[in-house]
Amino acid sequence: MEEIGRSIIRLESVDSTNNYTANRARENDLRHGAVILAVEQTRGKGQLGAYWQSDAGANLTFSVFLNNVNLSVQRQFVLTKIVSLSLTDTLASFGIQAKIKWPNDIYVGDRKIAGVLIENVIQGKTITRTIVGIGLNVNQRDFGKLSATSISSEKEQHFALDDVLFSFISNFNARIKSMSQPSLDQDYHNLLYWLDEKRQFEDSEGVFEGVIKGISELGMLVVESELRDTSAGSEQRPQPSQYHLKEIKFVN
Ligand code: BTN
Repeated sequence: MEEIGRSIIRLESVDSTNNYTANRARENDLRHGAVILAVEQTRGKGQLGAYWQSDAGANLTFSVFLNNVNLSVQRQFVLTKIVSLSLTDTLASFGIQAKIKWPNDIYVGDRKIAGVLIENVIQGKTITRTIVGIGLNVNQRDFGKLSATSISSEKEQHFALDDVLFSFISNFNARIKSMSQPSLDQDYHNLLYWLDEKRQFEDSEGVFEGVIKGISELGMLVVESELRDTSAGSEQRPQPSQYHLKEIKFVN
């Protein structure tokens, strides 16, 4: 895939950079790799229908348009890996050790520092175009009740948004070049939040103790758990279990 970031579109205020990108892409008015950045989003979209809140001008809120992606739907998780690792690479270059809360939330300790919303255009079984939306907290210090952090909160220093953006673009371009290399899988695995730790999760059967072992080839979360009692008595459940997004919650 060709590089991103050769064209950068800067907007003062927009509902959502992902929506703006989708509209211009629909009109074939965007080149591959365009980065669309907004100082302020009035209706920033988060995952699962949530809003993405970000103080105007304090953080990076942007979308990357990928054209002619030509990736089978089966392999779509590779994009999640590339984006997540580009973010952890970027944070590492600012001296911050971040983890990936599956599938693509970026955490420092137990605080979220970045979120990703990937929206695909699919034809048949192929992803043709992708909009990668990224909210990366840079200079915001106060997040109210949210358990969130920013580069500035971690380093106690103000950062130029463009320095962070250009670091992300170059890390993304490096990761995309190695798209089919094992390092992508290994790095993603090693940076998983709660990897190999005994933790509480919740699935359709209730809360349970389990250990994240990694992800499947298709990007499902693999969690090993102890036997759980069901109302029908003690029943053996297949172990380890694999989960799709929305099928499992991280509890504690
Ligand atoms: C999440 O809920 O973690 C995903 C947040 C994604 C937010 C970014 S900000 C830029 C882009 N435009 C949007 O409307 N959302 C994404």
